[in-house]
Amino acid sequence: MRYGIFADVHANLEALEAVLRAYQHERVDEYLCVGDIIGYAANPKECIEKVKSIAKVSVAGNHDWAGAGLFSVDYFNPFAKEAISWTKNNLDSEARDFLGSLSLEYKNEYLTLVHGTLDNPREFNYMRGDYQVEETFRLLETRLCFVGHSHVAGIVGKDQDGRTFYHDNFDSGRPLPRTDNSGVHIEIRKNVKYIINVGSVGQPRDSNPAAAYCIFDTEKMSVDIKRVIYDAPLAREKIISAGLPRFLGDRLLTGR
Ligand SMILES: [Fe+2]
Repeated sequence: MRYGIFADVHANLEALEAVLRAYQHERVDEYLCVGDIIGYAANPKECIEKVKSIAKVSVAGNHDWAGAGLFSVDYFNPFAKEAISWTKNNLDSEARDFLGSLSLEYKNEYLTLVHGTLDNPREFNYMRGDYQVEETFRLLETRLCFVGHSHVAGIVGKDQDGRTFYHDNFDSGRPLPRTDNSGVHIEIRKNVKYIINVGSVGQPRDSNPAAAYCIFDTEKMSVDIKRVIYDAPLAREKIISAGLPRFLGDRLLTGR
């Protein structure tokens, strides 16, 4: 089984389409979305429709639930607040109901999906710092946990002796090396559990503007996080023309 796992599309249709084109070469059997389909960019409706049509499961991100009125925007920054209020006005009730129907966690025999952390997922905390990482490992019942939320791809493992090790940058206060477009490949080791942040399709924040997407192969027991360059200038233009904050468009060009 080959899973195509992606997160944080954030209404960026150009990035989503580029990722779906890239997945065409990956023999994916099943797509899974780790939340935040909407918020920030100009095509929430189109992104919801696409994700709905291809993903077997989507879990809720904070923006999804905020768009459905289930999560308060009090702690959102001003740009995110403005984007959510614009997004709500540009979604019909069917789309909002779909966002509201997303659950916080999903689990199958191989993997768990959660947007933030397993420790109180409805608070949408960041997997930042050792506490969140350790709590999620403690609560994790499968070998792999796929997360999103920080928009920075990274992998952390915990072996049977309880040793935690960081494969790639994980948003944990450590310096963030740039993930280059050749991507990251790891073999899943026996007796090791992993938390994998798949990065962001529609608003990467690791100084690399290319869209991020992940493939998990259950036969090879391998995980790849890849990057694909997309038409970020067009996504930016659409954000500005829609009257959304210019900053939300500009940041797509630098991946910050
Ligand atoms: Fe997000």
